[in-house]
Amino acid sequence: MKRNLLASTLLVALAAQAQAGNTASSPRANYLLHCSGCHGQEGLGTVEGGIPGFPDSIEHIVGTETGRTYVMHVPGVVANNMTDAQIADVMNYILDRWSGGGAHFTAEEVTRRRAIPVGDVVAYRREVVEELRRSGIEIATYPWP
Ligand code: HEC
Repeated sequence: MKRNLLASTLLVALAAQAQAGNTASSPRANYLLHCSGCHGQEGLGTVEGGIPGFPDSIEHIVGTETGRTYVMHVPGVVANNMTDAQIADVMNYILDRWSGGGAHFTAEEVTRRRAIPVGDVVAYRREVVEELRRSGIEIATYPWP
């Protein structure tokens, strides 16, 4: 029930976001406009939204094949009207701020990975978690209240 409520809240937020259109251009402006509402200006995520934080976590996620495909299928990337080049830029902005700047995406990689079907993104994230755990790495958990 809690998850259903969350899902509808996310849909409303994403619809509002889509309607707002895409006028900002710099990666930082795009982050503030399209991502910070859920992820926060400091990338810490939110307990209410059940959104995992970026610090000490996103760098590990983008270090694996599965993880790089996963981040191209999260809600905020699937449902916005940015081009693949703008998505690459905003993702690289996140990496620069919260992962020491490694493992940048190109627009071509974004296009290629967005075309890979992943099905249920929550289940897919679990695969990323398990893969990293096998190498002894723990990433951010969902901060459910
Ligand atoms: C409506 C809320 C919302 C917005 C807006 C949003 N996200 Fe997210 N994001 C989420 C949720 C929820 C998850 C967790 C996905 C899951 O269930 O695996 C997530 C996960 C992520 C992750 C993976 C983090 C992790 O530890 O799993 C990345 C990277 C990400 N989002 C990037 C973005 C970017 C880039 C934008 C802006 C273009 C954005 N998000 C906008 C809700 C949002």
